Amino acid sequence: MKLKDVVAVITGGGSGLGEATAREFASAGAKLAILDLPASPGAKVAESLGANAIFTPADVASADQAEAAIAETVKKFGTVHIAINCAGIGRAMRTITKEGPHPLDLFSKVISVNLIGTFNVIRLAAAQMAKNQPVTADGERGVIVNTASVAAFDGQIGQAAYSASKGGVVALTLPVARDLSSMGIRVCTIAPGTFETPMLAGLPEPNRKALAAGIPFPQRLGRSAEYAALARHIVENEMLNGETIRLDGALRMPPR
Ligand SMILES: NC(=O)c1ccc[n+]([C@@H]2O[C@H](COP(=O)([O-])OP(=O)(O)OC[C@H]3O[C@@H](n4cnc5c(N)ncnc54)[C@H](O)[C@@H]3O)[C@@H](O)[C@H]2O)c1
Repeated sequence: MKLKDVVAVITGGGSGLGEATAREFASAGAKLAILDLPASPGAKVAESLGANAIFTPADVASADQAEAAIAETVKKFGTVHIAINCAGIGRAMRTITKEGPHPLDLFSKVISVNLIGTFNVIRLAAAQMAKNQPVTADGERGVIVNTASVAAFDGQIGQAAYSASKGGVVALTLPVARDLSSMGIRVCTIAPGTFETPMLAGLPEPNRKALAAGIPFPQRLGRSAEYAALARHIVENEMLNGETIRLDGALRMPPR
C-alpha cells in the first residue's frame, strides 16, 4: 500500500518510535491520527504536522476510549487504512525482591497497556479497515504494524512483565494475520533492540554506553527514523505478512 492519501492511526505517536513514524508517514502524504494519552506530547506532534494530522487522546487499554479515537479518525478522514501500534510502557522488577513478591497490579498494568492495548486497537482498526474499498490490485484493505521488543525472546532479569507482554504481541501476529487475510488486511510486528527514545533517555550515560557496546553492529543505539523506515517498508511491501522482524543490529540480550 502506498502512503499517499491513506489514513493511519499511530498509537504512542506523541513520542519516540511512534512520533518518528508519524513524521515519516506525513512526509509521504498520509493522513494521521496520533492516538496517545491526553497528557502526552501527542497534541503538539499533531499540530506540528499540519492539517492532515489530528490528535485523538485515548488510553489504548480502554475499549471505550480507543473506540472513540477510531470513530473521531473516521469522522475526520473517512476511514482507517493503517494502524501502527507503538504505545507501550516498560517497568522493571524481579519476580521476588527483598520487599516481597512482584506486585500483581504492576504485572497486570504492563500486560494491559502493551498486550491488551495492542489487541484493542487491532480489533477496532481492523473492523474499520474491513469496510474499505481495496487500494491495491491484490485487494489490500489495511495494514497493521505492532511493536514488540527483543525482550519477547531474550528477556532480562526484571523483565517478566515486559517480556510476557511483548511475547504476547509476537504470538498474536500470525493468528491475527490469518484471521484478517480474507479481508486483505496484513499484520506484521517489529521487535526493536535498544533505541534512542525518551523511554531510554532516563538511563545514565554509562548504562547507555554499555547497551550500545553490547550490539554487534552497528555499535550504537537504534534511531527512531530506522524504526519508521521499517514500518513504512512493511506498509509498502505487500508480501510481508504474519511475521515478526527483529530490528536490533544482531543484539542478543544477556541476562542482565
Ligand atoms: N526504545 C526502545 O529501545 C524500545 C525497544 C523495544 C521496544 N520498544 C517499544 O516501542 C514502543 C515505543 O517505545 P518508545 O521507545 O518510543 O517509548 P516512548 O515512551 O518514547 O513512547 C511511548 C508512547 O506511548 C504512549 N503511551 C503509553 N501508555 C499509553 C496508553 N495506555 N495509551 C496510549 N498511549 C500510551 C506514551 O504516552 C508515549 O507517547 C513501546 O511499545 C516500547 O515497548 C522500545
